[in-house]
Amino acid sequence: MKTMLVTGGCGFIGANFVRYLLKESDFTGRIVNLDKLTYAGNPENLADIQTDYKDRYRFIKADICDGTRMAEIFEKYEIDSVCHFAAESHVDRSIVKPDEFIRTNIVGTFNLLECARTYRNRMILFHHISTDEVYGSLGREGHFKETTPYKPNSPYSASKAASDHLVRAYYKTYGLPMTISNCSNNYGPYQFPEKLIPLIILNALEGKSLPVYGDGRNVRDWLYVKDHCIAIWTIMKNGTPGETYNVGGNSELENIKLVEMICDILDEKNPLSDGGSRRDLITFVKDRPGHDLRYAVDFSKLSKNLNWRPKQSLETGIRDTIQWYMDNRKWVERVKSGEYQTWIKSHYR
Ligand code: NAD
Ligand code: TYD
Repeated sequence: MKTMLVTGGCGFIGANFVRYLLKESDFTGRIVNLDKLTYAGNPENLADIQTDYKDRYRFIKADICDGTRMAEIFEKYEIDSVCHFAAESHVDRSIVKPDEFIRTNIVGTFNLLECARTYRNRMILFHHISTDEVYGSLGREGHFKETTPYKPNSPYSASKAASDHLVRAYYKTYGLPMTISNCSNNYGPYQFPEKLIPLIILNALEGKSLPVYGDGRNVRDWLYVKDHCIAIWTIMKNGTPGETYNVGGNSELENIKLVEMICDILDEKNPLSDGGSRRDLITFVKDRPGHDLRYAVDFSKLSKNLNWRPKQSLETGIRDTIQWYMDNRKWVERVKSGEYQTWIKSHYR
């Protein structure tokens, strides 16, 4: 792979992936990072990469829904592989306003597939990043397998399911070499503080209330973002075209237990001045409509066939993540105040 197009590289997982690929992996090619810079895209996540890897890294502000622009970029940069992260990714936003989810996640993916089809002869791989949420919700038992039927419950997961089907169809119909990974909930550095873990860490640091939906007994499986990045690169290098791989963290926990864990670690690292417990900040709020009860991923296909396993335990991963948010107050302040958006507006059209 000489020139890989990474879409959504200024978002949470995309930025971690670009960093991993250039700084730690055996990838030797160039990366073209294409991102629309929505509220979730922050070029500051890759500011050091922009200066340290001038020869191997290029950023382009563009919208994947602009098919003409996508075709120009594929042509101009001789793209031979794609790792597609760009998406609207927050379930709560998809419930309030699904429009952008349909546009970006479905139409945007379709545009990229069309470009890959046009340049089919040089296309080595189109890797599509998806979610375990396409499988719907589990009861208290069982795990999602790659063969579990799709049953998405939110506009977000339905739009991701649609994009997965399109990617697979381009393999079956046009022979486009593709792989898909469906992963569980990611956490780690650079996550926008609307998702549960960074939201709770930052609210707890500031002594604000900690909103837990419903009774807090919904279960998620947590995957450390670096483990996810290693899984993606493993699949891109050694996966079988046409196949789907589940990626999980082996770390299931009820939301309330996770929030309590964050409170206790913060009390130990950074005790409140009155010696109180941050657990007192927990507030049960109105449940999310259609809230999936439980996600859990069977990733035995990836571990048996490609020898991947998550390395990070939830306890150490949460500790490292808390430390990252404590050490990166400037990043946090610029994201929370919206200053990063002001900077984007003054630098890009
Ligand atoms: P994110 O919201 O942090 O980042 C998304 C990025 O995509 C942003 O940089 C944004 O600017 C960009 N983007 C949005 N619309 C675009 C458009 N029309 N054109 C170009 N760029 C656009 O998301 P994330 O958490 O990093 O997720 C990345 C991918 O992983 C998504 O496809 C998501 O569905 C999937 N995923 C995420 C999780 C998770 O826990 N975060 C779990 C499973 C799957
Ligand atoms: P989230 O991070 O939004 O990811 P997803 O909806 O994709 O799983 O939410 C993770 C879990 O935390 C989910 O069960 C909803 C719950 N949650 C809360 O209880 N409070 C919150 O403020 C948020 C954002 C999520």
